[in-house]
Amino acid sequence: MPLKRAFIFLGPPGAGKGTQAKLVAQSCGLPHLSTGDMLRDAIRRGTDLGRTAKPIMERGDLVPDDLVLKMVEQRLAEPDAGRGVVFDGFPRTLAQAEQLDEILAEKGFGKPVVVDFSVGTEELVKRLSGRWTCSVGGEIYNIHLVPPKVAGICDRDGGKLVQRADDKPEVVRERLAAYDRQTKPLTEYYRRKAVLQIVDAAQSVEEVSRALRRIVNRAEMENGHL
Ligand code: AP5
Repeated sequence: MPLKRAFIFLGPPGAGKGTQAKLVAQSCGLPHLSTGDMLRDAIRRGTDLGRTAKPIMERGDLVPDDLVLKMVEQRLAEPDAGRGVVFDGFPRTLAQAEQLDEILAEKGFGKPVVVDFSVGTEELVKRLSGRWTCSVGGEIYNIHLVPPKVAGICDRDGGKLVQRADDKPEVVRERLAAYDRQTKPLTEYYRRKAVLQIVDAAQSVEEVSRALRRIVNRAEMENGHL
């Protein structure tokens, strides 16, 4: 039986991880596992996890590792994760990365393909301040850079576009600081394991997508999936 595939998208808030993870997940026929989307869904549903996560996310801090890891393990037990997963925004701390290594080994995954999205701070702030997301299907737009055809309406399903509560400038500052403190060290962790690839994510959506396509195709060939 072929090993399951794990793609891990690392990078600061606003780097385009969600935008590209959706495309790669679609093209590879794998589920897109975004811990941010899962936590926002828990908040919407008013679960215990959602009630704990809400004030933390509103401040721009990270949700505790044990809660996030439990949520991810439950998601990986679902049948659609049987061939692999595209991780977006996870892992985000050294503890999460170490635990993920154990989970991947236990569950029959091959070596992960880890992609670091590299973008300067000025561009990140511009991207986050202009982001609008579809309230129905989660499609991501940007009023300055990737606008919808009709303002406020999703091109794909006609859903209403909304702004994320944590995209306010003061929360964005905290999220960027949390990234520098807790997530940036993961690039070194994965570099040492020789699984890290870097993408210049300051390019257009199409250019980043093409660069990722090359990385994904190479990994799929090496692992016998193409
Ligand atoms: P999460 O939802 O993961 O947010 P994030 O990492 O801060 O990343 P974003 O979703 O803001 O950005 P992105 O890189 O996905 O960019 P996007 O594609 O949307 O996490 C939110 C919170 O949840 C965290 O702060 C934390 O509290 C909690 N959390 C989540 N996971 C956790 C974990 N593992 N552990 C602990 N806590 C966790 O693009 C951004 C904008 O730019 C869009 O408008 C888009 O249209 C535009 N854009 C994208 N690409 C391009 C491009 N190439 N050119 C021009 N514009 C572009």
